[in-house]
Amino acid sequence: MKAVVVGSGGWGTALSIVLCDNGHDVTLWSHNPAKAAEMTEKRENPLLKGVTLPEKLTITGDLECLRGADLVVSAAPSFAVRETGRKIAPYLTEKTVLVSVSKGIERDTNLRMSQVLLEEIGNICKVVALSGPSHAEEVGIRMPTGCVSACPDRDAARFVQDAFMNDYFRIYTSYDIIGVELAAALKNVIALSCGVTTGLGYQDNTKALLMTRAMAEITRLGEKLGGTRLTFGGLAGMGDLIVTCTSMHSRNYRAGILIGQGKTPQEAMEEVGAVVEGYYAAESVHQLSQREGVEMPICRCAYEVLYHGKQVQDVVRELMTRAKKDELLETAWM
Ligand SMILES: NC(=O)c1ccc[n+]([C@@H]2O[C@H](COP(=O)([O-])OP(=O)(O)OC[C@H]3O[C@@H](n4cnc5c(N)ncnc54)[C@H](O)[C@@H]3O)[C@@H](O)[C@H]2O)c1
Repeated sequence: MKAVVVGSGGWGTALSIVLCDNGHDVTLWSHNPAKAAEMTEKRENPLLKGVTLPEKLTITGDLECLRGADLVVSAAPSFAVRETGRKIAPYLTEKTVLVSVSKGIERDTNLRMSQVLLEEIGNICKVVALSGPSHAEEVGIRMPTGCVSACPDRDAARFVQDAFMNDYFRIYTSYDIIGVELAAALKNVIALSCGVTTGLGYQDNTKALLMTRAMAEITRLGEKLGGTRLTFGGLAGMGDLIVTCTSMHSRNYRAGILIGQGKTPQEAMEEVGAVVEGYYAAESVHQLSQREGVEMPICRCAYEVLYHGKQVQDVVRELMTRAKKDELLETAWM
């Protein structure tokens, strides 16, 4: 099958390697032709250091590579997904399957990534979300990893499962694209918050408390927006939350640590030196929770720290001294 990965960051590159390993005819497109030429020559992407790119992987800056592609993977950072959708739209047909792997919510519109793509491509083909606990650095060296291929169209979800699955990349299908995409975007906010607790010097108990209660509020919002509860306990939900909140591979977690140590959000993002998607997602999540009337104390506190200069120590005290709650439904008591 002819596959094109659009976006040559760490994740687009790692997924190109998986597709090459599976015997597909794969092209990696970079929005920067000079970078494409450099990667072609050196057989390495500086964003995925130490990983040798397969000889048969074509790397280009020419969008013509999309012509006739059966599978197109949109792997741009979330801020560039709309622009990417616009660029690739003329090359897609009703037979193409488009895979969205970006994790975020669009600023201003608060749309999920697949919704942004569908708007730009005019619904011409099926869009599948591929998501889960998957650091590019580990997939690039073929470490056992699992993801979810989500689309209400079962054939499209299975097509993507077949294209990517192999003995180190295990793919489950799901109809719940809403839950999968929301879980992916929201976990970045929580990874940032977990980093803050680490930066403050708190340890495992605090992290586990934060992750578990964060998942409760992510699930509340996800269900309200049409997601399925079980998704949030699955790979794209709890799985991705665990991997992002516990790893120095995560730039959201690393930015959070710096904020916990006293840096401003802007200083922290500059020091991390790459897009910290959780920063932007925090604003979208806050707007969505307000709009939907869903209580999300952890995400609200993250928003207030990131956008209104609230002190992290004050936020921890506020969260710990909230009104007493029941973990399960109050109504279930005998
Ligand atoms: N890195 C991971 O492990 C991982 C895993 C799963 C999902 N994701 C998601 O994949 C997406 C891409 O992440 P990444 O880690 O590969 O990014 P990255 O930071 O490694 O690279 C970003 C890439 O985007 C390119 N870029 C910048 N502006 C662009 C534009 N206007 N149009 C197209 N490309 C542009 C840059 O040149 C760079 O190649 C993100 O939404 C991320 O959440 C990443």
